[in-house]
Amino acid sequence: MPELGVNIDHVATIREARKIDYPNPVEAALLCQRSGADSIVCHLREDRRHIQDRDLRELKKAIKVKLNLEMAMSEEIVNIALRVKPDQITLVPEKRRELTTEGGLDVLARAKRIKSVLKKMKKRNIKVSLFIDPDKRQIKAAMESGVGMIELHTGCYANARNKKEKKREFELLRASAEFAKRIGLSVFAGHGLNYKNTAPLRKIKEIEEYNIGHSIIARSVFVGLGKAVKEMKALVT
Ligand code: PXP
Repeated sequence: MPELGVNIDHVATIREARKIDYPNPVEAALLCQRSGADSIVCHLREDRRHIQDRDLRELKKAIKVKLNLEMAMSEEIVNIALRVKPDQITLVPEKRRELTTEGGLDVLARAKRIKSVLKKMKKRNIKVSLFIDPDKRQIKAAMESGVGMIELHTGCYANARNKKEKKREFELLRASAEFAKRIGLSVFAGHGLNYKNTAPLRKIKEIEEYNIGHSIIARSVFVGLGKAVKEMKALVT
C-alpha cells in the first residue's frame, strides 16, 4: 500500500509571513500524524523562508512517524542534518530565487558531492533519497551513486497544459518508475500533486510513497488539516 508523506513547509510559510509564533508546524505535524500521514516532510531551505532550525529539532523530538528532511547539499545544511538525524533526507537542488523546487537534482553533474554526502549520512544511519526528474540517465546515475531510493519529480505531469501533454508525462513517470524498480531502487513521487492529479498515478504500482504539501495545506483552509490529510490518504491508498 503506498504511503503518504505530508510536507508541512507552508504552515511555516504562514507563520513567517508575520514573523510571529503561530501557526506552529510541529503542532501541524502531530495533527497530520494523527490523521494518517505515514511521514512528515519539511525542507530546511538555505534562506529559511519557512521551516527554521528549531522547527526541525522539535519535529525530530515530537513525531513518531518518519521524518524526511528535504535539503540542498550545502555544507551548513549537511552538518545540521548530521546533528539532528532525521530518519531520511531527500537531496534536492535549490535556487534562492525559485518559488519552489523547480527541477530534479542533476545526479550526473553532482555525483561526487552526492557520494560524499551519502557516505556521511550512512555513518549516522540516515537514509538518503534523491529528488530527480523522470529521466533514465538520472535514475541510472542515482543507482550508481549508491542510494537505495529516489523521488520522481511530478512537476511536469502536474503542470501539463492539455490531455496529450499529461499523457506523455504520465507515461514518462510510468516508464521511469518501472526502470528504477527494475534496477533495485525504491520509488517515491512528489511535487505539484493535488486532489485531482494524484489518483491517476495509482496505476503506477511501483510508486511506494507520495510526498505532498501545498495542495493539502491549501485544502485545510476550507476543511481543516485533519480532514485534508485523510482525504489525500484515501486517494493514495
Ligand atoms: N517532494 C519534494 C522533493 C519537494 O521539494 C516538494 C516541495 O517542497 C514536495 C515533494 C511537495 O511539493 P508540493 O508542495 O507541490 O506538494
